[in-house]
Parts: sequence; C-alpha cells; structure tokens
Amino acid sequence: MRGMIPVAALATALLVPVAQAGEDPRQPIELEAPQRAAVLGEMRQFVEAIDTILDATLAEDMERVARAAKPMGMAAVRRTPEPVRQALPGGFMQMGRGTHQAFEAIARDAEALGDPRHTLEQLSRATSSCVACHRSYRIVTAD
Ligand code: HEC
Repeated sequence: MRGMIPVAALATALLVPVAQAGEDPRQPIELEAPQRAAVLGEMRQFVEAIDTILDATLAEDMERVARAAKPMGMAAVRRTPEPVRQALPGGFMQMGRGTHQAFEAIARDAEALGDPRHTLEQLSRATSSCVACHRSYRIVTAD
C-alpha cells in the first residue's frame, strides 16, 4: 500500500497536462498587424542583444556588452510606438518595462564594474522575465 500514493500522485500529474492539451493558457492580446510586427521585431532584437552579450561576456569585452545592452534598455521603451503602447495590457507593459530595466542595468554595470560573472547573473535574471511573459501572453491579429 505504501507505494500506492506516489503512483496515484504521478498518474494525476501526468493526467493534468493531457486534460489541458489543445488549450492555450496564455492570455491573447489583440493587435493590428503593424503593431504585432513592431512587438515581434523588438523581441528579435532582444535575442540578438543576448547573443552579443554572451559572446562579449565570454571574451570579457565589457564595453561591447554595454553597447549591446544599452539600446535594449529604457531607450527601447521610449522607442515603442504610441499605438502599440495603447494596445498592450498593463501587466504586459509592466513586465516589458522590468525587462528593459534589466538590460539598462546590464549596460550600466558592465561599464561601471566590468565583471563578467555579474553580467551573466543579471542576464540570467533578465531571461527569466522573457520566460515569464511568454508563459502569460500570446498575440493575435485583429484581422
Ligand atoms: C512583456 C512580455 C514579454 C517579454 C518581457 C518578452 N517577450 Fe518575447 N514575446 C512576447 C509575446 C507575447 C510574443 C508572441 C508570442 C505568440 O504570439 O505566440 C513574443 C515573441 C517573441 C519571439 C518571437 C519573435 C517572432 O518574430 O516571432 C522572440 C524571439 C522573443 N519573444 C524573444 C524574447 C526575449 C529574448 C525576451 C527577453 C529578453 C523576451 N522575448 C521578452 C512577450 C514578451
């Protein structure tokens, strides 16, 4: 009998995702096609920045780290077109702002401290925000 409870718990754990298969738990955000393109374009810039930051951090080129991170900092928030800003829910904007603040901090500390390990810790925290938001939202087009 003692073995039964873990088996039952395992079966439940396996059944839950099956029951939800086909359902997308992410909240849909409805955007016009150009706004969607703007958001996705910014996302791809994030990946490019991460790619450069990792490469530069390994090379201990902290000036290059700062140059790659800086444009994805608060400057990117200011670049967000007004119609996109209007269309995005508050929770999305908040998570987005936090992620941009993280890149701002990576740029600042890369210059001020020049410590590759610190940069990696910051980047690791930043990519957790990517994951958190990707779990929460998806974009659908209005047309
Ligand atoms: C505030 C929310 C949010 C944050 C933060 C966020 N993303 Fe996204 N990202 C999204 C949404 C929503 C999509 C569209 C997903 C969908 O519709 O299936 C997306 C899509 C993407 C795509 C696909 C782009 C394309 O052309 O299709 C990439 C790549 C991406 N994100 C990378 C990142 C990276 C890297 C980070 C962190 C540095 C990040 N994102 C942070 C919400 C976010």
